[in-house]
Amino acid sequence: MKAKVGVINLLNKILTEELTVINQYFLHAKMCKNWGYDRLHHHVLDRSFGEMKDAQVVIDHILYLEGLPNMQQLGTVKIGETVPEQLQADLDKEKAMVKLMTEGIVHCVKVSDYTTRHMLEEMVKDEEEHIDWIETQLETIQQVGLQNYLSEQIKKEE
Ligand SMILES: [Fe+2]
Ligand SMILES: [Fe+2]
Repeated sequence: MKAKVGVINLLNKILTEELTVINQYFLHAKMCKNWGYDRLHHHVLDRSFGEMKDAQVVIDHILYLEGLPNMQQLGTVKIGETVPEQLQADLDKEKAMVKLMTEGIVHCVKVSDYTTRHMLEEMVKDEEEHIDWIETQLETIQQVGLQNYLSEQIKKEE
């Protein structure tokens, strides 16, 4: 199926961001593992894998629309040197992603591409859940203090 005006470009921008966050979250997860924060490690690693699934959906959809997925481009990977810095850097990425997807949805409505619109609407829900989880972590750190928060992260996931 031929793509509507601007849709491939839009999907490639989203793909670039997905590929970027896969790397950022993956390294953050591995740093947490190295620090002994087992719970955070698993959670952030799952988020990285989730973004990989998003990349897969976007790539499949670009090919379905007879476009070429751009795998060459990578955005800026922002690595936090502490857990709060990591959370903040990831939150920034998630917010940027929601903005990009929301703009994409608006564009899809304009050019009457309802399948891409639907795909983005499904994806944006997951990204909003990511934002919610990260905001909860930052809020918990504020409430219980960083030391208490981190001591909970050392415990093994049941
Ligand atoms: Fe994603
Ligand atoms: Fe996300």
